[in-house]
Amino acid sequence: MTAYLVKGVSVVGAAPTDLLIRDGVVAEVGADLAADGATVLDATGLVALPGLVDLHTHLREPGREDAETVESGSRAAALGGYTAVCAMANTSPVADTAGVVEQVWRLGREAGLVDVQPIGAVTVGLAGERLAELGAMADSAARVRIFSDDGHCVADPKLMRRALEYVKAFDGIIAQHAEEPRLTEGAQMHEGEVSTRLGLTGWPAVAEEAIIARDVLLAEHVGSRLHVCHVSTAGSVEVLRHAKARGVRVTAEVTPHHLLLTDERAETYDPVYKVNPPLRTGADVAALRAALADGVIDIIATDHAPHAVEDKECEWAYARPGMLGLETALSIALDVLGPEWDLIAERMSRTPARIAGLEGHGLDPAPGVPANLTLVDPAARRVIEPAELASRSRNTPYARMTLPGRIVATFLRGEPTVLDGKAVK
Ligand code: DOR
Repeated sequence: MTAYLVKGVSVVGAAPTDLLIRDGVVAEVGADLAADGATVLDATGLVALPGLVDLHTHLREPGREDAETVESGSRAAALGGYTAVCAMANTSPVADTAGVVEQVWRLGREAGLVDVQPIGAVTVGLAGERLAELGAMADSAARVRIFSDDGHCVADPKLMRRALEYVKAFDGIIAQHAEEPRLTEGAQMHEGEVSTRLGLTGWPAVAEEAIIARDVLLAEHVGSRLHVCHVSTAGSVEVLRHAKARGVRVTAEVTPHHLLLTDERAETYDPVYKVNPPLRTGADVAALRAALADGVIDIIATDHAPHAVEDKECEWAYARPGMLGLETALSIALDVLGPEWDLIAERMSRTPARIAGLEGHGLDPAPGVPANLTLVDPAARRVIEPAELASRSRNTPYARMTLPGRIVATFLRGEPTVLDGKAVK
């Protein structure tokens, strides 16, 4: 195993120092380190962060390997500075059995680029009718602790209650895609002034807020852990603020795109901007940013949703919802938050690792800590070229935009997965 001596790096924004990475761990941190045989990396001007952790990634394998595979998605993640991702269950077949979650987990290990932690489905086939084999998935080699029907809402309150009760036994989490389906029938975009003007059926904010309100009450009643996926409205933030003040065990995520883009993008009729939940208003974006800063929203999660060309480059109404996120998330965070390194580490690494219980992740580089870390060049700016992304899909909403920051290197247990901004394998 090669040792790496990282010279002159700022650890989470602190004064420059040296880091020695050896035998899978951060062996030493300090000024003027030397190590025989180590590969020296000049990291002047770079910032070291604990490897990023994504609680919400769609890897599409099994079933839609034309859009993404565990390996291609893992590579995209490493290039984005991630060392662990949680893979959503809406694959084909659905990850609703021990067999499928073990398959995804094994594929992640074989790719060896990030730790892939499968999320299990809450209901069989995501159909919202019967609970899936939650216990068998928890006991499997994949040791599933987070369950989600993401892409679909667990709309039946009794089933949601049962799911929360079931996972309580092993301190599991139900991650809810909050969307009251009766209120979003036929919806194409955010319901508001822009949807009225464009004549597209709207997805009202209340469809999200009503489910979050119901679920925080259920989580409080049962005493279980609830995680709210892709929070997108100012009203949802207020419901979460209230629930947290009451001590409900709820955590919440926001995506990079909901922190940056608004429903006005739909005026282009370019389906690259179609996503679920939809892009909202400028006032919602402002409320999400404030909630991320004050902690009502705990984390940034990408909702990386690769789609094949034929599912995206078609009429808006027929296009699948979703956009790529892994390779641009840190740049969007830098753009939105500025060089607030401690906040970025908290929202993109430490807290998601803690929520998902991912051992060895989310830890700041320090002696003895597993060397899961990423090196960022905050001064770099790059133009996003879809054809250059490692994802198998091209549906980035940031095409040809110039974004701040560049991932220079990523290490997984001391082995580089990215060096010089390029994937190592
Ligand atoms: O836009 C979305 N795409 N939202 C979801 O909840 C699911 C995801 C997907 O799987 O494509």
